Amino acid sequence: RTGVTCVPVVVHVVHATDEENVDDAQVLSQLDVLNQDFRKLNPDVAGVPEVWRELAADSRVGFRLASVDPDGHPTTGITRTRTQVAGFGTDDAVKFTAQGGRDAWPADRYLNVWVCLLEGGLLGYAQFPGGPAATDGVVIRHSAFGTNGTATAPFALGRTATHEVGHWLNLHHIWGDDGTGCSGSDFVADTPNQGGPNFGSPVFPHVSCHNGPHGDMFMNYMDYVDDAAMFMFTAGQAVRVNATLDGPRSTFPT
Ligand code: ARG
Ligand code: ZN
Ligand code: CA
Repeated sequence: RTGVTCVPVVVHVVHATDEENVDDAQVLSQLDVLNQDFRKLNPDVAGVPEVWRELAADSRVGFRLASVDPDGHPTTGITRTRTQVAGFGTDDAVKFTAQGGRDAWPADRYLNVWVCLLEGGLLGYAQFPGGPAATDGVVIRHSAFGTNGTATAPFALGRTATHEVGHWLNLHHIWGDDGTGCSGSDFVADTPNQGGPNFGSPVFPHVSCHNGPHGDMFMNYMDYVDDAAMFMFTAGQAVRVNATLDGPRSTFPT
């Protein structure tokens, strides 16, 4: 496809405490980040090393809070649910009203984003295209969501959602999910073959898997570095995103 695809988003805020009930401004700050990062409008793209500057790409997908709910009524695109569940895991309970969460809106018309307290160090998780509609979407820890309110450094720049929505659009981890081995692939040709994930704020270059002299593209959104250290998708990733929008997620825009 050509042009920019606009995806309607519903944010389900599921909270056991008032603090977890993130305000509308925090939700809007996250939408702003998604719209910058997927359009290559993020100012920090200037930090991409010279050797990869040409590869940094506009993925041509935008996001807006839904204005019509599944019944056809006006909505803010934000739902709020009080829960007795003190912390959620990756078992998808947050995606079901009957399990203390909130049911998904139709996944062929909305990107469902659940915001809640996640247990352990988990910042977020996502479902790839092709899975069940009832669990489709991304889950983001409230303290790694948006750029204000309860967002907490080093995950206070909204990049957890950029990363998870990358998965929702069928992007894989840049190191190929093979531990630290050199045989895994992210199925994108223009990202270097990379050993394992990078964390924190690495110094360029970080070489692995004979990928010198430039090494790992650790500033890619699909690595595991801190929010301030990730700021690009590549042209190959943008092609994959748009193949997803032409394929398993071709019901968008709606
Ligand atoms: N699923 C990953 C985790 O929970 C998300 C990492 C996102 N990275 C980031 N800098 N926000 O670890
Ligand atoms: Zn991931
Ligand atoms: Ca690897």
